[in-house]
Amino acid sequence: MVKICCIGAGYVGGPTMAVIALKCPKIEVTVVDISVPRITAWNSDQLPIYEPGLDEVVKQCRGKNLFFSTDVEKHVSEADIIFVSVNTPTKTQGLGAGKAADLTYWESAARMIANVSKSDKIVVEKSTVPVKTAEAIEKILTHNSKEIKYQILSNPEFLAEGTAIQDLFNPDRVLIGGRETPDGQKAIQALKHVYAHWVPEDRIITTNLWSAELSKLAANAFLAQRISSVNAMSALCEATGADVTQVSHAVGKDSRIGSRFLNASVGFGGSCFQKDILNLIYICECNGLTEVANYWKQVIKVNDYQKNRFVNRIVSSMFNTVSGKKIAVLGFAFKKDTGDTRETPAIDVCNGLLGDKARLSIYDPQVTEDQIRRDLSMNKFDWDHPIHLQPASPSAVKRVNVVWDAYQATKDAHGVCILTEWDEYKTLDYQRIYDNMQKPAFIFDGRNILDGAKLREIGFIVYSIGKPLDPWLKDTISMA
Ligand code: NAI
Repeated sequence: MVKICCIGAGYVGGPTMAVIALKCPKIEVTVVDISVPRITAWNSDQLPIYEPGLDEVVKQCRGKNLFFSTDVEKHVSEADIIFVSVNTPTKTQGLGAGKAADLTYWESAARMIANVSKSDKIVVEKSTVPVKTAEAIEKILTHNSKEIKYQILSNPEFLAEGTAIQDLFNPDRVLIGGRETPDGQKAIQALKHVYAHWVPEDRIITTNLWSAELSKLAANAFLAQRISSVNAMSALCEATGADVTQVSHAVGKDSRIGSRFLNASVGFGGSCFQKDILNLIYICECNGLTEVANYWKQVIKVNDYQKNRFVNRIVSSMFNTVSGKKIAVLGFAFKKDTGDTRETPAIDVCNGLLGDKARLSIYDPQVTEDQIRRDLSMNKFDWDHPIHLQPASPSAVKRVNVVWDAYQATKDAHGVCILTEWDEYKTLDYQRIYDNMQKPAFIFDGRNILDGAKLREIGFIVYSIGKPLDPWLKDTISMA
């Protein structure tokens, strides 16, 4: 029986391995992690991550051919194929700080593999890594090899949180990069064989190592760039009276452009986009490609601009101050159908409002109070380290209240911000919310999910990103 071990039981390692186990009943899959609470949760009824459909998949194969364990060394030494899906944060100190990928966790995983291996291994990069990481990993493994042969493959993951299971069941493509030697090609075929259990052959792309590594960074940069493009357009729409939804619909109808990923919003978030673009920028700079680096930097700058613009809109429309005012924040996760808050725009928006002394009442159906408090007090990039290495949650972030109900969050509030596009926010009783708010009552829709006209009928002053402005907001336009 082929044995697979995955190092890192996170948002990628957990769901990916669960689907491999489900689709390949004859392969034994073990997911290992240094975090005891994470593994305990994977072995319980309360999985450590929220992902639609994940519970069912795990329930079907856990204990049969899917296992979660903290005995990292044992399972690594027994495996034929080792996936490495550990954190690859942005460096916070030293050379490349703020841009380059910090490969500490990757390197320690590679050294551990070298220490415990007694048979030949295929080592698969699942984490998103800088181009040429495979070469560094190969060096660590071969210099410590004890006659054992390693083949390194790059198999970046393209799943999107919130739709991970769907994406894994039916991927647009699976990408496998390897060495162009006979042994490298053999390793590619071995991994291809795993995916071929359920992925049609023409969707499994094989390339050289460096193309596979770079393709992942490029794909995320292209996706983020689309969001920044439409967000940049949203500012222009507000200035001219155009409606960004109509503009993006018309633009997206062009089959060369396509309609997906063209929704204007308060900004992109998630653990990958910013980190991967920063990494790409660093690689460009290291290769002397300043103009290319500057091009990609602008994608992040526009994202920051969009979050600032949103905060400025709120403050300027509420008489230029939110000091002491209660603002209800609906949504904290970086997008709907996930509890993940890494790099969520909500952090910057909330910190911006707190900077102006607002009182916040936050409600998100999937994010815990502890996580919100942790996020609002964490330094940049701290979030992308294993949980047990993150700073403990401080006892209180002053002026923040976390509640479990949208009506409670909005009661007596001066304004409401929608920061995540959860479906349940679309069907709230906004008349009831209006009746219980301070007047004038404001709604700032950072995801364009609400019907502005209906809200105006109720009496709200409404701001929707990239839509024609209310007269009230037009009067404050110079401030935003
Ligand atoms: P995560 O933080 O959820 O999981 C990483 C896990 O690795 C943690 O549980 C940590 O405790 C564990 N770990 C770290 N060092 C270890 C070691 N030496 N031995 C054993 N376990 C160790 O991260 P996530 O989101 O799963 O991401 C992993 C990689 O996949 C990153 O490189 C990320 O950029 C990439 N990726 C993430 C996607 C996402 O949607 N989250 C999508 C595609 C790629």
